Amino acid sequence: MIWYPYEQMKTMKQPYKIVDADGVYLYTEDQKLIDSVSSWWSVIHGYKHPELNEAIETQLKKFAHVMLGGLTHEPVQKLSDKLQSWLPGDLDYCFFSDSGSVAVEVALKIALQYYMNREETQRSMVLALEHAYHGDTFKTMEIGDDEDYHFVLNAYGKSKHVVHIPTEIPALEQAFAEYHDRLNCFIVEPLLQGAGGMRMYDISFLKRARKLCDQYGVLLIFDEVATGFGRTGNRFVADLVLPDILVLGKALTGGYIGHAVTVANRKVYEGFYDDNPAHALMHGPTFMGNALACSVALKGIELFEKQDYMSKIHRIEEITRREMAGFSDPRIKEIRIMGACVCMEVYDSNTIQGYQQYAYERGVFSRPFLNYLYAMVPYVIEEDELVKVLTTMKEWFSTKG
Ligand SMILES: Cc1ncc(COP(=O)(O)O)c(C=O)c1O
Repeated sequence: MIWYPYEQMKTMKQPYKIVDADGVYLYTEDQKLIDSVSSWWSVIHGYKHPELNEAIETQLKKFAHVMLGGLTHEPVQKLSDKLQSWLPGDLDYCFFSDSGSVAVEVALKIALQYYMNREETQRSMVLALEHAYHGDTFKTMEIGDDEDYHFVLNAYGKSKHVVHIPTEIPALEQAFAEYHDRLNCFIVEPLLQGAGGMRMYDISFLKRARKLCDQYGVLLIFDEVATGFGRTGNRFVADLVLPDILVLGKALTGGYIGHAVTVANRKVYEGFYDDNPAHALMHGPTFMGNALACSVALKGIELFEKQDYMSKIHRIEEITRREMAGFSDPRIKEIRIMGACVCMEVYDSNTIQGYQQYAYERGVFSRPFLNYLYAMVPYVIEEDELVKVLTTMKEWFSTKG
């Protein structure tokens, strides 16, 4: 029996059973659906991509997986070389893991130990954002700020190790003034907070954060598990403001295989690199650097570059802005658009109850949550397909008015 995610199993509606997937389409026995969610924002190249399939098949004939403890292999070496040259600044040191949550855990562990290695043990606190979501493991729940996902932690009382602030510069400055000597890092989903409600904020906040982190010696971590690979209309937000540690996942493998990477800059890496064995990073997920995941990730980056995905993303944003221009409804609080993400926030979650089935019947797969009706489409979507996704969202309000 399957225990499904984020569901009360007693009242759960039957999930749609997918029997095939190709390009932007999911197929059930009786319906063809545009996937407007990109399988939790990861399938940027579409399903059953011939070149991605081939990359995996070629590697599979050699071996699927070997551990990185005492062993190494070409796909992981090539992927880390590629990331080193492709990512901005001196974000050069790649620690692989099997999911976004684990990769964020690794980033937080690195930040904590970085200061332990320097004997600054008072730096045990993390600064994070209100409405943050960084995963569902325990430490990522603790730095997250979303009652809907993380209420179970209430059993422990309020954490002494995390401070949450809104995305406002005065709050940022105040937090640094108060806690700077106890903070090891400031972690953010840069520009776009996903699961916390597709909340968008300005780059000036991150620029100020970079300055304050430099001033007080606090590490800046960008969790780009959701925003990386173009989702915000920037290749990485790290191209605009350089963090000390960058976390990537989801689209890294084009949604083919769970994999993620925590990338540190030289300063952070050197905080571990010395003659003292106790200064090593004691971490090692079984499936880190999985050869199939690395092969498909490499091919995905090649496609991203060769097929100029950034122009595809800018086109998606243009079409979305055009289609949403002038559209409003009294039940909608705000329509937010950034890159290849659009979100309608409604005042009352009941307003979008039933939307999923409505969209299904019109050939679109959607998964609204709480007060948010959104689309994060695969970048290979055609204009008419995108228009269909957006029209379905708008028509819901006119039909149910
Ligand atoms: C910003 C962010 N960080 C981390 C995660 C966790 O990634 P995973 O589900 O691969 O553990 C997510 C997942 O949605 C995310 O959006």
